[in-house]
Order: sequence, then structure tokens, then C-alpha cells
Amino acid sequence: GRSSVGVTSVPPVPDAPPETASISVDGKEIDATKGELVIDACERAGIYIPRFCYHPRMRPVGMCRMCIVEIDTGRGPALQPSCMIPATPGMTVSTQSEATVKAQDGVLEFLLINHPLDCPVCDKGGECPLQDQTLAYGPGESRFVEEKRHFEKPIPVNENVYLDRERCILCDRCTRFAKDVAGDPLISFQDRSSQTQVNTFPDHPFASYFAGNTVQICPVGALTARPYRFRARPWDLEQTESTCQSCAVGCRVVIDSSRNEVLRYNGVDIDPVNWGWMCDKGRFDFQSVQHPDRLVGPLLRGADGELAEARWSEALGAAAAAVREGLERSGPGGVAVLGGARLTNEAAYAWAKLAKGVIGTDHVDAQLGDGLPADAVLGLPRATIDDVCAKGGTVLLMGPDLKEELPVLYLRLRHAVIEDGVSLVELSPTATSCSELATAALRHRPGEATELLRQVLGNAGRTGEPADQAGQRSAEIRARAREVLGKGPLTVILGRSSLAHSAEDAVAAAAFLLEATPGVRFLPALRRANVHGALDMGLGPGLLPGRTRLDEGRDWFLTAWDTVPDVPGLDATGILTAAADGRIDTLFLVGADPLADFPDRRLAARALAGARTVIATDLFLTESSSRADVVLAAAGYAEVDGSTTNIEGRVSTLGRMVTPPGTARADWMLAAELALRLGADLRLESVDEIWDEIEELAPSHAGITADLLRSPAAADGVVAPLHPADLGATEVNVEGTAVGGSDVTITGEPYDPDAAAEHAESAEAASEAEATDEDDGAIAEVESQERASRAAEREAAAAEDRAEGDDSAAHVDDTAGDERAEAEAVASEGAQRLFKPSPLSFDGRSVRGAPPPVDAYSLRLVTERKLYDLGTLVQHSPAIADLAASAPLRVNPSDFDRLGIADGSQVKVSAATGSVLVAAVADPGVPRGAAVLRWNQGTPDPGELIDATLSVTDVRVETTA
Ligand code: SF4
Ligand code: SF4
Ligand code: FES
Repeated sequence: GRSSVGVTSVPPVPDAPPETASISVDGKEIDATKGELVIDACERAGIYIPRFCYHPRMRPVGMCRMCIVEIDTGRGPALQPSCMIPATPGMTVSTQSEATVKAQDGVLEFLLINHPLDCPVCDKGGECPLQDQTLAYGPGESRFVEEKRHFEKPIPVNENVYLDRERCILCDRCTRFAKDVAGDPLISFQDRSSQTQVNTFPDHPFASYFAGNTVQICPVGALTARPYRFRARPWDLEQTESTCQSCAVGCRVVIDSSRNEVLRYNGVDIDPVNWGWMCDKGRFDFQSVQHPDRLVGPLLRGADGELAEARWSEALGAAAAAVREGLERSGPGGVAVLGGARLTNEAAYAWAKLAKGVIGTDHVDAQLGDGLPADAVLGLPRATIDDVCAKGGTVLLMGPDLKEELPVLYLRLRHAVIEDGVSLVELSPTATSCSELATAALRHRPGEATELLRQVLGNAGRTGEPADQAGQRSAEIRARAREVLGKGPLTVILGRSSLAHSAEDAVAAAAFLLEATPGVRFLPALRRANVHGALDMGLGPGLLPGRTRLDEGRDWFLTAWDTVPDVPGLDATGILTAAADGRIDTLFLVGADPLADFPDRRLAARALAGARTVIATDLFLTESSSRADVVLAAAGYAEVDGSTTNIEGRVSTLGRMVTPPGTARADWMLAAELALRLGADLRLESVDEIWDEIEELAPSHAGITADLLRSPAAADGVVAPLHPADLGATEVNVEGTAVGGSDVTITGEPYDPDAAAEHAESAEAASEAEATDEDDGAIAEVESQERASRAAEREAAAAEDRAEGDDSAAHVDDTAGDERAEAEAVASEGAQRLFKPSPLSFDGRSVRGAPPPVDAYSLRLVTERKLYDLGTLVQHSPAIADLAASAPLRVNPSDFDRLGIADGSQVKVSAATGSVLVAAVADPGVPRGAAVLRWNQGTPDPGELIDATLSVTDVRVETTA
């Protein structure tokens, strides 16, 4: 089963096909896999054995004895802890025998001896395994009348976790999690006997990015989360499953809300992704959902230059007018759209259709110069997280510090290396959290990863004769890396290790690896939540939905869209450069904050000043959206339905729990409204309708129907494409039935701005005449009716799925097969022929050479991210807002003399674009010739030093004394 406290079966996965052992449990024969623990085998067979310390994602310890049952292996029945005993053939287990019942009763009586009677005020009350199991298996009353032990109640073990030692039953779950799963052994058992307590060490708080998991897995109320304490009781909560949108790992979560307020996220245990874990950023940033600073309605910049509240009709009208003016002045190329990774897949599709299919511009980019080119993300042979972590494999990590940027991927990789024999080779400019897991960790100067790879995997002689001890060491590490990388199967985690050098190096490395290591697969390490979905939906230059290249998909999309851009457009750097040069009239920021996120801060600022009109859709007034002319308030996470796509290309559903603040609207509705005001029609009326169109038109998403996504077969999400082998260009009949199964209508004329303007004016006049503020209420009402009817439909679909049982996936296959046959039949009747394009593949031909040599007076800049930064969601979540911390410039000790600076001294770091003042400290983990600054932690801001048009950032460092 799936649970937010984790109940699926334990790794490690056996190598050979599992042998089964037949065992008898309470008189019933069940099959256990060889080595499976009795507690798991029974649970799979529907027999639940009570437990406290056992957790399927951690090694069993047999601490609590709650799972004791009578087991007979042929030598007579004996009471044994079922979490410690593997099933063996012929074993007999009694979970109900008199001896078992008495033993479990006794264990509970002992556990309760020192347990305080806190239930009425304990956060765990109502969802407490100790309460529940005492009722089900425990004694009716206690014989213990002595004084219970006392500890100070509760003590904080870090900023967000409180510990009440009186309630602790010493199950060793939190301590094992911290040490074995997270690798942060900061909470531990102390003292002895009845005084044994869990605690942190003096002056060492439980400083872990994963501490919230211990709250979730503590079987009593000993560990509680400050952001949730005393906020609700379980019976007041409404729950829905969703997918975390705080990074692109896409952890499956359950959202708890009460009275229209989000109160808590908990991890859900799904095998392919998060195993029930979350990071604390994802867990505690729920506070941002109802932050008082959320935008509650649209804003319009008035004649006085200030943003002021406006009506939706005014704001949308002004946005549409700006687009029309832009189109008249400079054609579709005068309009650009930045952002989209905050959106659902459906909203991203609606915005892609608005930008490319209505306005006709291809200047669209969901990434902000901080990711990888779209064809590398979408076109490289793909690995899933499970592929990366598969037993005995080899992983090459060339990307960011996973613990800081994709935290739960770090947990999975850590487990794979420590428990499952995965070998890791790391190539990065500086040491990261993964370095200590690596068999070989190789350092390179920014922009020189490909060169290093060539040396390691190419001719061994090129590593050169080691001149000294350091050289000797480095040659050894390279030899080790070469040996490990040669073992295969190889998967590569590929991303940006720093924003101070361009993505070219990563792309060149991918091209080299594709050639040098047959069968290699890649997991893109992009950080923004739904960046993958946004690119899938076409929010990138030269792309159309379904991982299709613009030129290959044009004819296909013209069957359903009004227009398709003529030529590939600009990426984020190109768009911002064009805007800075006055070549962009209308710039949309769709949940994008280039002033905070684009690596080159000067360029971002010049772009926002240079665009004639900036239109932002956002949750908050950010640094960038506060400079916009029109701000459209968007509904965000937990407020909208839809789906999202993680780094693996896994599509999963998002849960809607609460209503958006004020009159904020879903992003897809904003796109649809704008289209109407431009005289066009997206012909998209609901989230489901959008998904149907995606499934029909987007080649990579064929067969992933809304029904499939909601079916039990897709509870863990569905990796697109569903049938990779079938994805050739498919011939379909335009006037008849397409492969997607529904009619494709050709919608006629390409976009004509004049006609559209006319149409829009009349539409606007009509809507203006009706427009009152009650409009917004009416829309809310329609939305809620829509929601109710969708809920009813879902209920019906779910009932149908239940009736169909596990056949739903197979059923989808059959349907697809039938449709293909039908399409072929129609095509052969001689109807008009058209090819549904095949998804793009990576083209590494355009990669460039090595970066220029660094001169003797400069250092090459590296930026690093931390989990807690000044990002919008973090800063609007009080639990984690104060955890961002600026840091000094870090330089290799050997560079200090050369540069004439002293360790700890204040220095001026300068590049052509600007300079910052900062203290410089020595760090042997930084390679010679490089310098490291933290990204997005306030001052110093490395964004002042980066020129987005250069492949590397060289800085001068001089003393200010
Ligand atoms: Fe177990 Fe909770 Fe005590 Fe930790 S604090 S040992 S999880 S009861
Ligand atoms: Fe959310 Fe990413 Fe953290 Fe998972 S790792 S909980 S997806 S922020
Ligand atoms: Fe088996 Fe605790 S659950 S000993």
C-alpha cells in the first residue's frame, strides 16, 4: 500500500528472480519472497502486525518488540520479533495466538509506564500509532502507580522541530533516519536505562535539510513540527495527494488543509521517486500558500507611475492592447514570453498555444539562462531515478550539488551508493555533498568538464606524468574514474554546476559521452519545479508541444492552431538582450523573476527597462513583477488542478485543496482570456479539455489520457512517452481520425493582427459593458460548479477503474492499437495525408570548443546554490525564511600569495559588468585558479559579475586595504 508514513516493501532489491517461500500465517498459506521479513510478508497478505520501530525504508533493529508473534520454524513455537525474522519455507506464524496477544499486551503496558497522559494536547492525538495500537492490542488499564519520569517539555532541536522526550518510546526511527538515510547523525540516544533519552549534542542542533521526516515517522508525539503544532486535529483535516512543486524531483505528497487553509505537507511513499521522504524546504514552504503578501487581484500601473488595484477587465484589456500594439509595431517577433516552470502542464500548454498558436511568436523560454538547452533536456536518451539508482550501476554526476538543489534525489543516490553498490564518479568545479559518496571526485576549472572527460576516458597517456605528490594523487583518481566509468551501465546526472559559466560545457560533455559510451542515459538535473513539463508543452524556443521541433511539427500543429511561428525564436538570454536593445515591445513574465534568477543581473535590469510593456502573472510582487506595467494575480500550488512533470519526464497529478486568494485566477484561464481579447479562441474550457488536446496533439504524450493519469495504475505517475518504441512519425488523416482518436479540425486563416484587433475591440467593448466586480464572483461560482462536476466525474471514473481493477493500463494499450489500425485504414483510403511528428532527439553537432585560457591575474568564478535562499517561496515561508546566509568568497589557499591578499581580508571582486566587496577565505576544496560565491543569498551578489554572453566569468580579486 501507499502511505504517508511509508508501508511499501524494503529495498534492497534481490539480484536474481526472487525465489518464493510458502509460509503459513494464522492457518493461511502465503507466498513470501526469499529473505522477505515476516512482518512484510504478512502485510502483503493483508495481515497487519503492530509495530513501532520497524520502518520499511530503514534497516530493522528490533527495538520495540511490538511486532512480536509466535513463529515456529520446526523447533516449536517461540515468540519472536517479526521485523527481524526472514520468512523461510514451511514456517508457521501465529499473529493471534494466546501467547502472541499476551506478549503484545505486555509490551504496550511497559511502553506506557513512562508515557505521559498528553493525548488531549499532543499533536499526534488522533493519528498516533501508540494510541491506536494501545486500543487495538493493549491492556485495558495500567498496574503502574509510581511517579513517571520527567523531562523538560518540549525542547527545540532545530528551528522547526520540537522534541518532547517524555513522549519518546525509544524506537530508534528518528536516529536511524538521521544517521542512515540522511547522513546527518545529529540526533542520538543518550544516557542509560530508564533515563535513556533522544537528544541532540550540546551546541549542535539537528541541522539537517531532512529533519521534518523524523516528525513524520516518529510513532508518537515526541517530535513535532513547529509550523503545525496546535494548528489542527486530524479529524478536522481534509487531504488530497499532490506532487511537491518546490523543485523538480517531484516528491509525492499529501496536502492537509482545514477550513480552506493549507496546514501541512507529508511525504507519500512511492517506489520510483521519494520513498516517503521530503526535504524541509518542500515540507515547510506550504506557509507561502496563504501568505498575506499573496496577490489578490490584478494591478495596473497608473499615470502616476504606481501600480494600483484594477479590475480584471481593465488589466486583461491593457495586456491585450499592449500585445496588439506590439504586433502592429513589430509583428509577432515584438512579443516575448519568459517563464512557465511554475505552471501546471495544462497552463504551460495554454500559454504555449497563446504565444505560438495565436500571437505567433517563438521568443518563448521557460528557463532563465540557468538550465540546459531544450534539445538536451528533451532529446538525450533518458534515465529515470530508478535507472540511476539501479543496483551495481555507475553514475557520473556532472551538475549541481544535489543535496542543495534536488535534495531527495540526493537521498536516493546516497542510498544507491551505500546500500546497493552503485559507483559514483563526480566531476565538478568544487567539492559538493556528493563528493564523499564518490569513488572518484574530480575537480575541473569552470567550463572544462568536457576536456577533463576526454582526458579521463580518452587516451590514458594524456593525463601526463605526475610531477609531484598532488599530481600523483590526481593521476590515481583519474585512473580510478576511468576504471569505474568503463564498467557500465552508465547513467549521467547532467545539469549546471554553476551559473557563472554557460551550459555549453555540459552540452559538449553530453555529446562526447553519447559517442564515447554506447548505451549511456541521462537524467537532467534541472531545479525549477515543472521546467520539464513547460518544455514538454513547447515553452522553449524552436519547440512545439510534445518534444517536437518547430519546423518538424508546424504542419501538424497547424491542423489545430491558428498559426505557428515561421522561424525559431530567441532563448532567455536572446530575449533579454533584444528587450534591452528595445527590440521587444511586449514582454510577458509568466511566473518568472529574471532580476532574481537570471545569471546576468545587469542584462535582466536593462531588459525590464527596455521592453515597452512588461506583463507579469505571479503569486507575489517579486523584484521583477513589481516593475511590470500589468500584473495578473495567479492561483498557485494547492489552488489549481492539473498535472506536473518531474526531471524523469514523469507526469503526475496535482491536488487542489483551497481556493486562491481574492480573485487570483489559474494561469491557463489568463492565457484563454488574453486570447479572447486578441480576437482568437484557444478553444480550451477546462483543465481536462486541455489535457485531452495535449494527449491528442503532443507526440510524446500520446496515450497518456486523463483517465489513465487518474487511474490506480498511474498512482506513481506515468513517464512520458508511454510507448517510446512506437514514436516514429505517424501518418494520420487530417479530415478523419487522428491517432489520438478524436477529430482534428483545421481552423483556417493564419493570425491576422488587423482583423484580430477589430474582433478584440468589439469583444472587449462587449465584455467591458458587462464588466463589474461581480464578474469575479460569477467566475468563482462557475469555477466551483466546474469543480463539483469534475469531482463527480472523477468519482465515477475512479469507480469504473476499481471495477476494471488492474486492467486499466492494458486497456489503454488496446485502445491505442485500435486507433492506430483505424487511422491506417482511413489513410489508405486516400484521404489527405499528414505526419504526426516524432519527438526530437539531441543534436550535439553545434557544440563549441574549450573556453579561453584564464590569465595569470584572474580567477574563474563559480556560483553555488544553497537549499534556503532568497527565492520567493522560501522568503514567504517564515519557517525557513531566515535560513539563507551570505558567505565569503572562497579561494584555494595557494592563490592567496599570487593575488597578494590575506586570508579573511576584505577584497574587491570585479569583472567587466561590475564589482562586489566581500571577505575572502581560504578553502582547499576550491581548485586553484577558481573562486566561489553563493547564489541568491543577498550580498555579495555574483549576478553583478556575470555576463550572460560569455562562456565563463573571469574576475580580478584585489585587496581593498
Ligand atoms: Fe522514536 Fe520518536 Fe523517540 Fe525518535 S523521538 S526514538 S522517532 S519515539
Ligand atoms: Fe519538494 Fe524537491 Fe524537496 Fe522533494 S526534494 S520535497 S520535490 S523540494
Ligand atoms: Fe519489530 Fe519494533 S517493530 S521490534
